Order: sequence, then C-alpha cells, then structure tokens
Amino acid sequence: MLQCWGRWSVPREHGGFLSTFSSKLISDDWPGYSLDLFTYPQHYYGDLEYVLIPHGIIVDRTERLAKDITQDIGDNDIVVLCVLKGGYKFCADLVEHIKNLSRNSERFISMKVDFVRLKSYHPGCVGPYFALRHWRKRRRPQRDGEGSGELVPEESQGSGMRGRRNLQNDKSMEDMQIMGEDDLSDLRGKNVLIVEDIIGTGRTMKALLNNIEKCEPKMIKVASLLVKRTSQPDGFRPDYYGFEIPDIFVVGYALDYNEHFRDLNHICVINDQGKAKYRV
Ligand code: HPA
Ligand code: MG
Repeated sequence: MLQCWGRWSVPREHGGFLSTFSSKLISDDWPGYSLDLFTYPQHYYGDLEYVLIPHGIIVDRTERLAKDITQDIGDNDIVVLCVLKGGYKFCADLVEHIKNLSRNSERFISMKVDFVRLKSYHPGCVGPYFALRHWRKRRRPQRDGEGSGELVPEESQGSGMRGRRNLQNDKSMEDMQIMGEDDLSDLRGKNVLIVEDIIGTGRTMKALLNNIEKCEPKMIKVASLLVKRTSQPDGFRPDYYGFEIPDIFVVGYALDYNEHFRDLNHICVINDQGKAKYRV
C-alpha cells in the first residue's frame, strides 16, 4: 500500500512510520531511504548508512515554510539572520522561496540577509565579539584516547543519545561567541528571522536569543530546518521548522561532521566507516 509524503510514494511495509506521512515528524523507527535510490558525491561512497531526508523533500518543505513565513510577515520588512555554517543552505533556499513568493504578491518584501557564527571562546582571539556563558563543559571520557571525532550528545550532557561532536571539539563550549560582520545593534526595531540548520536542546538558540533581545528588535522569529527529539522536556521549539527528527547525528545539506559532508545534498546518517574516516 502506498501513501504519499511530499512528492514521494513510500511503501507502508517499510516499517512503522505512519506519523511520517501525515506530519513533519520523522519517527524513531523510520528506516530511511536506501542510498541506491539517489545520487550523491562519489567521495562519500561507503561512508553513509542511509538517507534520512532526500534533497527534493527538503526543498519542497522549505518552499512551504517560506509560504507560511511570508503570510505571517505581512507587509513587514525583515532581517534574515543566518546562523553559520550549517544554516547557509537552508537559509539560501528559504530566502529564494520567500523572494519568489513576494515577487508574485502585491508588495515585494524587503529582506536584508545577515550572518552570525557561534564559536567557542578562545581568549586572545575575541576581537569585538562577546562571550556567552551558557554552555557547560562536557565530562564524557574519551574512548581509547580517540575521542576527538567521537559523536557524543549534542548540546546537553549525559543524555545517552547519539549526538553532535566530541570532547576535543567541544571542550571550550562553555564560552560562546557570536561572530558576525556587523554589530547586532543594527537589529534594533527590526523584524528578525533567525535561520538555523538544527536545534537540539535549544540551549544555543536560547543563548543567541537572549543576546539579540538586548538589541531590542521589534520582533524575533526562529526558523530551523530540523528539530531533534532530545530527552529535554522543555526543549526549545522554533516558530517554524521543517522536520522533527530522532536524536541521531545527521549530515548533509550543509550539516557537517568535522567539516565534511556539507556538500551532500540529502540529509543522511553516517556509518562506522564514515565516522572513522573523518574523525579528527
Ligand atoms: N549534525 C551536524 N551538526 C549538528 C547536529 C547533527 O546531527 N546536531 C547539532 N549540530
Ligand atoms: Mg546550526
């Protein structure tokens, strides 16, 4: 039996993922799509487990988010604040769709696109940026001295879930900087749309919002392509999101694993070979 989700028809007997059809929720037992169904860069052959969300579905879903956002914006101009690096693809596609929708409407929405990057804080390279102290240090021990590329819980500690980075990459996450070309005070009185790739516990986003609120914008909305189902009951919910996904580490569509896989169009799950190959 076939049911439709986006443009794709998926046999029901693939598993218990009925919720996938009717909502943006991708259930924990969703087996994903076989890699054989799609094309992807040859340099990743053998490194991926499966496709969680094909590129076509991402694009279609983004178009719908753009429609929802455009309707909510009304006549207001907006500043789109893209959170780098992972948010760049979603942001580019979202802005393109909003532009197209607004082109066909009565009033062209004026959009300024700006960028911020959240970085761990290293004294000595701070420059004009300010530090956030919302991140606690992780205490997960390294395994066999090879912890640097190990996937460990994202944002939160001790959740026991497959997650983001590693001890080495995250060790200075307790101090965060917002890095951007422009001063955030430019956001005063503006309608701001923050665009993120993925939200886990939401701790990072809450920290960013706290800082942006200090600049007294007229309105702030958050759009994230993905929301991870974490064990945090009070997890942050963005105003707009593409898909809620299981608490697994994903790559592609600008999401990276140690700076690799950003050039992969689909959102995928890496296999052990991929993790080992790109571990730093
Ligand atoms: N993949 C890549 N980057 C991330 C993820 C993920 O699953 N979660 C938070 N940052
Ligand atoms: Mg991000």
